[in-house]
Amino acid sequence: MLGALGTGTLPYLAALPAYAKTPAMAAIPYGAAVRTDPLYDDPAYKKAILDHCQIIVGEGGLKWIDLRPDRHIFDFTQPDRQLAFAEEHGLEMRGHTLIWYGAMPEWTETIASAEEARFELVSHIETVVGRYRGRIRSWDVCNEPIADNPTRDAPIRDSVWQRHLGRDYIELALRTTAAIDPDARLVINDYDIEQATDSGRAKRKAFLDLVRDLKARDVPLHAVGLQGHIRPDIPIDRSGLTAFVAELDAMGLGVLVTELDVIDDSLPGPVAERDAAVAAVAKEFLEAIGAACRPEAVVTWGISDRFTWVPIWFTRGDGMPNRPLPLDADYQKKPMMQVIEDFTRSFNQ
Ligand code: XIL
Repeated sequence: MLGALGTGTLPYLAALPAYAKTPAMAAIPYGAAVRTDPLYDDPAYKKAILDHCQIIVGEGGLKWIDLRPDRHIFDFTQPDRQLAFAEEHGLEMRGHTLIWYGAMPEWTETIASAEEARFELVSHIETVVGRYRGRIRSWDVCNEPIADNPTRDAPIRDSVWQRHLGRDYIELALRTTAAIDPDARLVINDYDIEQATDSGRAKRKAFLDLVRDLKARDVPLHAVGLQGHIRPDIPIDRSGLTAFVAELDAMGLGVLVTELDVIDDSLPGPVAERDAAVAAVAKEFLEAIGAACRPEAVVTWGISDRFTWVPIWFTRGDGMPNRPLPLDADYQKKPMMQVIEDFTRSFNQ
C-alpha cells in the first residue's frame, strides 16, 4: 500500500480517510453521490445508501451555485446535512468540488482581474476546507480542468480561473487546500478519459502532462479521479486506459472512480437487455482500471435510477426512463451493482 502512495506520504498515512488506507485484504470501498433531502425523508433511499455504501459525496451542496448564492454568503445547509448523515452512520464523505468551471453563480461573472480571481479562489477554499477540516478528508480540488479537445498550446479548459490566472490556478487551489488541511487527500477529477477517440487520447496525454508537471514541482496532489460517465456508443480504450492508470500508479498517485454511471440513451429499450449492456460497459471500464492499480474507491453518480442527472442531457428517443445506475428506481439491485460488488471484492487477497 505504501508503494501506491509513494514514500513521501508516510506522515500522511495516519490521517488517510478510512477507505484510502484499506489494507490490501479488504474490498475496495463503494460509494454514491447523494441528494440531501431523500437521505432524511425517504427511508428506502436511506436504506439503500446504508446497505451498499461506505462513502457518500454530495451531488450538489458544495458546488458554488449551491454554496455561494451571493459573493458574501456561504450557505452550508446541504453539505452540513450530508456530513451529519455520513458521520451518524460511519460513512466517509468526499468533497465535490472546490474549483470548477461549471455550476457557477452569476456573480462570479463579475470577477474581472487576476487579483480578484486569486482572492475568490483562495478565500473560498480557506472557508470551505477550514469548516470541514479533518471531517471531509478527500476533496475534488479541481474538477474537469482538462480541455475537451486539448492541444499542446491549450491543454487546460477555459474558465474564469484559467482566464485570469492561467493554468497556475490549479497549483494555487492544491497548495491552498493543503495549507488549510495538510491531511486532506487532494484529487483532480475529470471525464471521458476512457474513450477510444482522438479527444480521449488527447485528454489522457494532457492529464498526464499536467500531473507530471505538478508532481515535478512538489505541488501537493495525491490522486486522480476518473469520473466514468460512460457513453456505450463510444468505445472504451481498454489498453489506453490501463496504460494511463499505470503511469499514474508509477508516479505514486492514487486513482478513484468518482462518478460512474452509464449514459444509456443510445442503448436498446428492453430493460433486461439494457441493464445487461450497462453492466457490461461498467465492467469493461472498471477492469481496465483494475488491471493497473487498486483503485481507492468506486463511486457512482447516484445509486438509484430514481435520482440521476442523465436525463438532463441524455433523454431517450423512445421516452423510456434512463437506467444508468446500480439500483433501479425502486432501489432493487441491477446487474451493474453485481459488477461493482464483484469488482470491489476481487481485490480481496
Ligand atoms: C451534476 C449534477 O448531477 C446535476 O444535478 C447538476 O445540475 C449539475 O452537475 N460532472 C461533475 C458533476 O463533476 O459535478 C456533475 O454533476 C455531472 C458531471
